[in-house]
Amino acid sequence: MRLWSDMQSWQKRLGETLRVSVYARFLLISGTIVLGMMTILALFVSSHVKAVSISSTAQTDAFYMTAFVAPLVQDISDDTLLPADTIAQLDRLMHIATVDNDVEMARIWRRDGTILYSTDKASIGTKADLSGAEIAFRGDVIGHVEHVSDDVGRHFGARGMPLFEVYAPLHSLETGAVIAVGEFYKNAQPLLDQISSANTTIWSTTASVSVMMMGMLFLLARRSNRIIVEQRDRLKRRAAKASALARQNEKLRGQSDLAKLQAIKANEDLLTDIGSTLHDGPIQSLALLVLKLSTVGTDKRRIVEDCADSVRLASGVVHDLRDMATGLVLPELEDLAVDEVVRLAVDRHETLTGTGATLDIGPLPAQLPSAYKICIFRVIQESLNNAFQHAGGAERQVSADWSDEGISIVISNGPARGVPREHAPPRQAPGLGVTGLRRRLRALGGSLSVATVPGSGTVVTATLPVDPRMMESVPAHFGRNTEVRVQPLGRQDNLDPVPGA
Ligand SMILES: Nc1ncnc2c1ncn2[C@@H]1O[C@H](COP(=O)(O)OP(=O)(O)OP(=O)(O)O)[C@@H](O)[C@H]1O
Ligand SMILES: [Mg+2]
Repeated sequence: MRLWSDMQSWQKRLGETLRVSVYARFLLISGTIVLGMMTILALFVSSHVKAVSISSTAQTDAFYMTAFVAPLVQDISDDTLLPADTIAQLDRLMHIATVDNDVEMARIWRRDGTILYSTDKASIGTKADLSGAEIAFRGDVIGHVEHVSDDVGRHFGARGMPLFEVYAPLHSLETGAVIAVGEFYKNAQPLLDQISSANTTIWSTTASVSVMMMGMLFLLARRSNRIIVEQRDRLKRRAAKASALARQNEKLRGQSDLAKLQAIKANEDLLTDIGSTLHDGPIQSLALLVLKLSTVGTDKRRIVEDCADSVRLASGVVHDLRDMATGLVLPELEDLAVDEVVRLAVDRHETLTGTGATLDIGPLPAQLPSAYKICIFRVIQESLNNAFQHAGGAERQVSADWSDEGISIVISNGPARGVPREHAPPRQAPGLGVTGLRRRLRALGGSLSVATVPGSGTVVTATLPVDPRMMESVPAHFGRNTEVRVQPLGRQDNLDPVPGA
């Protein structure tokens, strides 16, 4: 398991290092494995073939030895050597063997290590080391290839020639017991050539089979790789599609959440607008109407005039409510220039309350979206009403100007005059006027400040930034410090402010 993971990591590292293709990596690894396995197989087969060749050759040669030599040495005894005629017969036999069978040298050993016969006549009767022939005395044939050693080689002068050495047991024909061991050397070159030829066949066959196996593996791997690549591409495409759908879903969910929030906000804004419009229009007029009715005196002429004013106020309320019903906007502002909106707000106040205000109009944009004009109108209207209600007959000034910061509307009044009205309508809830103005201005990016200094009066400052793109032009004929009074609803000089209201 560990070996496999080591191989995998090794393969990965090798692949990254060489930056080779998947086929090359596969060929490299599978080729190494196949070649390794086939080499082991070829080595095993060739060594087996070599062993079998040597063994079968040794058996064949041993058969010759036992068949022809054994009958000649049946009379071996422990204390005598072979008779001369036996040695002569053996010499003839060995001569034939040399000619027919390439035998280079032969010896016959007695169990005690005495050499009974040798093609090297000088060694007959001597004793030598028997360790090589021990197995043969136990009844087995031994054969092996060796290069000529010095002591053997000097007898036939074939130094350097590969020799095949065989030890063969010589059995008693009566008892079957091993009575001697025959040893002979023959030229091993034919055997070695045979083994070499077999090896060549084994290795070339192994190489051919390996190449075929690698080819088939490569084809199999290429086909598998193609299938894997196709599946991976298909999966990638599906994953991309799924993630695109997920993103789209997420976006749609976000848009849906946003739409919900916007719907809630739009609803809130609408309610706020309606509340502000109700407050700034009908409620203001009704409050003034209540104030006026609560100050009706005993003078008949005054009563008639107050009644006429009240009717006018009530008509104004009806007019405002009708406007609300037809779109919650002030329709008469649509066609007015910005400076005319300022004048109308001051003039309307004068008409309703009978008290005027000093007007100071600086340069102003000729046109603005109606939301801006309504906002300017409401700021002046509410601030003048507050001055009328909360500061009695104090002097009022309205100024409008336009600079880089935007349009600036300032409504100021002096210190409150008179005493609070006894019949002023009781307040049920905190005032909404200033709060509503702030909300209107904030909706358009503007701001409002109300500063009341006891003993000196109140200053209301509204700032409304305007984008130059939304205006058409700035009229050149508007001068500064111009006091303008217009009367779209009729002039009411006798409408006194209500002290302490
Ligand atoms: N010009 C002013 N002079 C003195 N006090 C003022 C002036 N303007 C506003 N105030 C004070 O600020 C308070 C808040 O004014 P706001 O217009 O919000 O409410 P309101 O006029 O009392 O009621 P509403 O406008 O809802 O009829 C007033 O109650 C008043 O005390
Ligand atoms: Mg008010």
